[in-house]
Amino acid sequence: MRLIETVAEFRAARTGLGELGLVPTMGYLHEGHLSLVARARAECVAVAASIFVNPTQFGPNEDLARYPRDLPRDLGLLEAAGVDLVFAPQPSEVYPPGFDTVIEVRGVTDVLEGAVRPGHFAGVATVVAKLFNIVQPTRAYFGQKDAQQSVVIRKLVRDLNLPVEVVVAPTVRETDGLALSSRNSYLTRGERAAAPAIYRALNAAKAQFEGGEREAEALRDAMRAVIAAEPLMRVDYVSVADADSLRELTRVEDRALASMAVRLGTTRLIDNLLLGG
Ligand code: PAJ
Repeated sequence: MRLIETVAEFRAARTGLGELGLVPTMGYLHEGHLSLVARARAECVAVAASIFVNPTQFGPNEDLARYPRDLPRDLGLLEAAGVDLVFAPQPSEVYPPGFDTVIEVRGVTDVLEGAVRPGHFAGVATVVAKLFNIVQPTRAYFGQKDAQQSVVIRKLVRDLNLPVEVVVAPTVRETDGLALSSRNSYLTRGERAAAPAIYRALNAAKAQFEGGEREAEALRDAMRAVIAAEPLMRVDYVSVADADSLRELTRVEDRALASMAVRLGTTRLIDNLLLGG
């Protein structure tokens, strides 16, 4: 495995590699990230991972400064997972002085995470487009955990004709249902004990859907009721939306994306489940 920190070096290393899978990450890796690496390993001749805590996707009052980092541990995990190339640039390599271009994906970024985190998806789209240009992957792997991010990246690729195949892989969870996230490391013991309510809430909506409920607001209410029973938890939003446009639904036909964001103390967690389809 090679650790590469500059764009020029990465381009040189990529030459002649042929079919390459890319797993973009912000590091502090867990089994969710590693499931994407395993999928890439199974489907591509060579595998690259990027580790870059992208400053432009964090708002001024968000957790950029305290975002967890452990590069030596991450490199050990990636090496063991069979990664060939790791791109781990400094912020000045990605955003040199005078950097002035932003990619904005409109529409699907106005709602959900985009509504609560203005500028977040412009930061994501810009860095992912840069990573695609630097790494030139055949396929790039993203997690369903960040459902809206996956929708935004699919749209970015389609709208800009980027020659990359986007693969979205299932969410990896703890045995109690909590979706793995680097941000889970912020949780106190009590908050961690409360956190599985997020998945329980999503499953409450799923159970109602499977029992025949088609009114979206009833499904949202089912989620809210589970969270309301957790004194440590506060809802940022609950959503039952069209899985492609991300517009809120009144009635669910065959499928929908149930998603939510909650606050547990100072930590903000998101999760989702697809209903039907
Ligand atoms: P990060 O949060 O590190 O996540 C990297 C990838 O891992 C994303 O595609 C995310 O959806 C996926 N992932 C996270 N938790 C997961 C889980 N429990 N199961 C399955 N996949 C999971 O998402 C980002 O970084 C950044 O926004 C990035 C795309 C790298 C751009 O900076």
